[in-house]
Amino acid sequence: VTHPTDRVTGGPFDWLATRAQERRDAGLRRTLTPRAADSSRIDLASNDYLGLTRDPRVVEAAVAATRSWGAGSTGSRLVTGTTQAHADLEANLADFVGCEAALVFSSGYLANLGAITALSGPDSLVASDATNHASIIDACRLSRAEVAVVPHRDEHALRDVLSGSPYDRTLVVTDAVFSVDGEAAKLDEVIVVAARHGAGLVVDEAHSFGVCGSNGRGLTAYWGAQNRDDVVMTITFSKALGTQGGAVLGSRAVIDHLVDAARPFIFDTALAPSCVGAAHAALDVLREDAGLPARALARARDLALVARAVGLSPSTPDAAVVSIPLGSPQAALDAQAVCREHGVEVGCFRPPSVPDGVSRLRLTARADLTDDDLNQVGAALAAVAALTAGT
Ligand SMILES: Cc1ncc(COP(=O)(O)O)c(C=O)c1O
Repeated sequence: VTHPTDRVTGGPFDWLATRAQERRDAGLRRTLTPRAADSSRIDLASNDYLGLTRDPRVVEAAVAATRSWGAGSTGSRLVTGTTQAHADLEANLADFVGCEAALVFSSGYLANLGAITALSGPDSLVASDATNHASIIDACRLSRAEVAVVPHRDEHALRDVLSGSPYDRTLVVTDAVFSVDGEAAKLDEVIVVAARHGAGLVVDEAHSFGVCGSNGRGLTAYWGAQNRDDVVMTITFSKALGTQGGAVLGSRAVIDHLVDAARPFIFDTALAPSCVGAAHAALDVLREDAGLPARALARARDLALVARAVGLSPSTPDAAVVSIPLGSPQAALDAQAVCREHGVEVGCFRPPSVPDGVSRLRLTARADLTDDDLNQVGAALAAVAALTAGT
């Protein structure tokens, strides 16, 4: 056994300081800033699209579930972690979306890992859109399948990949709405191409669930593919539903297979009862208030109009996300700081979340934004426009 003081050369983690300096020089150092519980800033940085995270119905449901089941789920789903609340939520989700079955995971990230790894594997091909979320990229890596990265929203390229596949089993994976720019996939085409080539399809509805389609049922349901046995959906509870957790939705056969085979389901402590209760209540709000998703979408379009009016070039939002490209990481950070000075909290995306040269502000609309809020956002974005004009 060698004592640390016996080392002749430097420590094994000395290289971290060099990496940290490189990231600092490139404007890529990240810091954690605790947010205040009572911040008066307008929140365009969170994923609370429908404003449900503090909705009394959702909060009280979290408290009630905690009182009934405790602060934790006490075990993995296959041991002690499945409560009646989990089973009820799964039935409610499947009924709401219109598919046979649902399976709750501890996060949307794990839902993607579970669905994609359990439905692919060695001797199979996974065709994944080039700008899919990091959880899908990680799932592809873990799957041990051959992975074909398909050019973004290119159904012709997808067709070429699938028709050239030497494998019997193929899985196509796409975000329904891409997280960085808020643009929707050409899901109608993807559904047809995948089916024509006998491929399974996994659609990540993280940003579309609760915002797109009737009552926020998502885009797979919008295109009428929610109950096909070759289509699987993944969702997160951490965006429109205002809490945490995730789920896979699909046929009974797929869900039963995941219970047997999805390692992120089997080897992870089940989602806490508070989150299960909150997600159930948020789903009930969606059922009751049919106009809520449309209000979030309309506010996203208002935000894009406000940004365009001051001379910026926002994306055209298909869901609640509006993205404003600014170029360098530092330009995006400076713009974020200017917004903060104007009382508006916005997201800032830099590499590795986005490729080099396309760092950006990311504004997330909320259904509860007021006209006064939009005016204040307009002033903040005008200051951003002035800043970029001066650089
Ligand atoms: C497209 C997409 N999929 C999956 C996830 C992961 O969901 P969760 O935060 O619940 O792990 C996210 C974001 O966090 C996302 O944006």
